[in-house]
Amino acid sequence: MGVISRGDPAGDLSGRADIDRLVRAFYERALADPILEPVFEVLAITGLDEHLIVVGDFWEQILFRTTRYDGSFLPVHRALHGRHGLSPVRFERWLELWTSTVDTHFTGVNAERAKSKAAAMARSLERSLRSP
Ligand code: HEM
Repeated sequence: MGVISRGDPAGDLSGRADIDRLVRAFYERALADPILEPVFEVLAITGLDEHLIVVGDFWEQILFRTTRYDGSFLPVHRALHGRHGLSPVRFERWLELWTSTVDTHFTGVNAERAKSKAAAMARSLERSLRSP
């Protein structure tokens, strides 16, 4: 087997460029998904490109600790929940799309962490939204 180049479909998530690719691929699918699309509508106003940088920072901090995510994770989703309802069905769909997007593009230790961290955070976010 030859050297696996960065961004090779069979390679692991290895840095910010890969995170950006993953996040963009996920959003392409989420924005076209009938269950999630109404919630992501807000990005038409706030701007997708800006949002993708914030989400990239978030994942870069989680996976590589090479940057600082300085956002407002809980308040943002609380507001979305109030406006649209982040229902269990939506959480399930979000996680399904995230997991399958990771699997489409990457394999390896960091890819596994990207999936397990997302599952844990989805669970804890869902729990936080249910409590006042
Ligand atoms: C039902 C599930 C979810 C939906 C529909 C959803 C949708 C959205 C939308 C529409 C935004 C942009 C809000 C805005 O700019 O006003 C957002 C922000 C964000 N989401 Fe989610 N999300 C979900 C779950 C998650 C989960 C489980 C994670 C992490 C594992 C996550 C990570 C983020 C991050 C990092 C931001 C940026 C927050 C900031 O501005 O600091 N989301 N989400």
